[in-house]
Amino acid sequence: MAVVEKDFVESLFSIRDKVALVTGATGALGSVISMGFGYAGAKVVLTGRNEKKLEELAAQMKEAGLACAYIAGDPAVEEDVKKIISFAVDTYGELNILITCHGLNKAKSVLEQSLEEWQAIMDANTKSVYLLSKYAAEQMVKQGKGGKIVITSSARSKRGMKGYTGYSTSKGAVDLMVQSLACDLGQYNIQVNSFNPTVFRSDLTEWMFHDDNVYQNFLKRLPIGRLGEPADFIGMAIFLSSNASNFFTASNYAADGGYWGN
Ligand SMILES: NC(=O)c1ccc[n+]([C@@H]2O[C@H](COP(=O)([O-])OP(=O)(O)OC[C@H]3O[C@@H](n4cnc5c(N)ncnc54)[C@H](OP(=O)(O)O)[C@@H]3O)[C@@H](O)[C@H]2O)c1
Repeated sequence: MAVVEKDFVESLFSIRDKVALVTGATGALGSVISMGFGYAGAKVVLTGRNEKKLEELAAQMKEAGLACAYIAGDPAVEEDVKKIISFAVDTYGELNILITCHGLNKAKSVLEQSLEEWQAIMDANTKSVYLLSKYAAEQMVKQGKGGKIVITSSARSKRGMKGYTGYSTSKGAVDLMVQSLACDLGQYNIQVNSFNPTVFRSDLTEWMFHDDNVYQNFLKRLPIGRLGEPADFIGMAIFLSSNASNFFTASNYAADGGYWGN
């Protein structure tokens, strides 16, 4: 009969004392994931471009007794990414988890969008994920203890939409990048996955929660019966960052209330 150890099961979802780098920590999802990881016992390195917001979040987390440090930087600028990874390692000695929560969407018809605007979305959503994954993986390989790379993609990565030639393209590229990164990094025991949310509450989407026509229209494709909240994704993020997901890699996980399923 197969047996399983109590300790193994009890520690499956633990990220206690792991060093986790959270990008876009200034945003709706990133701030909640940062707090969530802090409450789960991780040492959290917060990053984003807005230093003032990082400072505010770090103060809030410290007030709650959570371990965190912050550094400002642009995830699409190579020198900034190197600096961010070095800061995490200098501060906490290593890097075990990268979780990206930054992103940009400027919906516009292809007929009106300039190449520069399209490129800005690609840089913010795709180039940044390449740079962060590359330098985080380099550090994890050096440490020789494996690691976790968790990318926030979008349900829009596999479903086009009016005005989304930038955003859907950038997230579709991220999904395939995740699969290829996982192939490169599997031999180092680094698992790479994305989770792909549908609409959840943020400054940009708040209006959708108050326009009944728009909200009801979304619900036609959402068996769960509501749009998301940032906290809905903490469990998935912890699963993909913990030993519970050690056999799972190269996947784009629906995190969408059933949107992809129907
Ligand atoms: N909200 C949704 O309905 C939804 C649905 C599916 C997927 N997503 C994805 O979920 C993630 C988090 O979204 P969110 O709703 O939490 O967004 P958010 O509240 O707008 O926060 C995203 C963060 O990304 C950073 N950012 C903005 N523009 C950037 C740029 N040009 N380059 C680099 N970083 C930039 C910003 O931080 P700084 O200004 O400090 O850099 C911002 O705080 C994103 O990847 C988004 O695509 C969101």
